[in-house]
Amino acid sequence: MYEKVLKPILFMFNPENVHNLFVSFGEFAGKTCIGRWKIGLMYNYRGKDISKTVDGIKYRTPFLLSAGFDYNGRLANILPSIGLGGEEIGSVTARPCGGNEKPRLTRLKKSKSILVNKGLKNEGVDRIIERIKRYKRNIDFVIGVSIARTNDDKSVSVEAGIADYVYSFKRLNEESVGDYYTINISCPNAFGGESFSDPVLLERLLIEIKKNSCSKPIYIKMPINKPWDEFSKLLNVIDKHGLQGVIIGNLNKNYDDLEYRDEAPIEYRGGLSGKPCQKLSTELIKKTKELYGKRFTIIGCGGVMSVETAQEKLDAGADLIQIISGLIFVGPGLVKKMCKGVETQ
Ligand SMILES: Cc1cc2nc3c(=O)[nH]c(=O)nc-3n(C[C@H](O)[C@H](O)[C@H](O)COP(=O)(O)O)c2cc1C
Repeated sequence: MYEKVLKPILFMFNPENVHNLFVSFGEFAGKTCIGRWKIGLMYNYRGKDISKTVDGIKYRTPFLLSAGFDYNGRLANILPSIGLGGEEIGSVTARPCGGNEKPRLTRLKKSKSILVNKGLKNEGVDRIIERIKRYKRNIDFVIGVSIARTNDDKSVSVEAGIADYVYSFKRLNEESVGDYYTINISCPNAFGGESFSDPVLLERLLIEIKKNSCSKPIYIKMPINKPWDEFSKLLNVIDKHGLQGVIIGNLNKNYDDLEYRDEAPIEYRGGLSGKPCQKLSTELIKKTKELYGKRFTIIGCGGVMSVETAQEKLDAGADLIQIISGLIFVGPGLVKKMCKGVETQ
């Protein structure tokens, strides 16, 4: 129904407008019992118990919405109805961000990818904390919060960048909002670039983060375009500072990995989601697992668009799976299919 009827219509309109429409609809539907029930009837998973406990947190299903879709935290009431075990809100930043200039999202239909140049548009951590606090937390749904550096010229220097991350982390932690935290060090096309995906600067950031006592798991959202020797240096730093795990990973910045290269001319800006992330992220998960065994929780993310691609990530060593593009290209029914796939394993 989604792929044959709804998607061709939705794909005729501007992707950011469609996204906003979906978020408004999802927020509205999530507010009423009937909305949640109706969506649940179509999309929820009600099979065998496939729950998983990771770092002391129980996930009803191992599938989560990845950061960037619900960046202002408006969908936590409706997402459990499509079979997700949790979501990552954000990335949130210390100050509100208006985002980069439009177009911020471009669909690359043939390549099954979204070119993302959002520039961390969000309402800022304080406002988002207040919203998350309003959710009734008796439902079985995990909320992670992704933290990034504010995308403006005030946080460009290393010192200001660290202070910016630490502000958001402290506020979330002291309000005890969110079940886990992710430090996003790999956002492309923001002021100051990806400076904290350098091991020396990451170490400086983590020293400051770890000065705050936190009982919740902390993960790092990893870049996927680094060669393995640089990637493993980041893992060493994360290990040294006792963080629980990594999300592998963020967007692909290499346009040559597109199946249809002509869909993204060189002057385009932003990172690629979806299919171009699939192989790169799975390879990095495999290598991380081989090197570190059970030391890190690994959340696999990138190009999961079918039962098979989800299983590939789990086989490579992922404990949990995050998705965005799969929901856009395949539809909300994908989660239920993946849950059934895990059930029969
Ligand atoms: C529209 C959009 C916005 C995104 N924004 C963020 C973000 O704010 N923070 C972040 O860590 N990742 C962000 N991402 C990256 C995703 O979380 C994910 O790592 C990436 O899209 C690969 O997963 P996918 O292939 O399932 O889409 C964004 C992705 C998309 C498509």
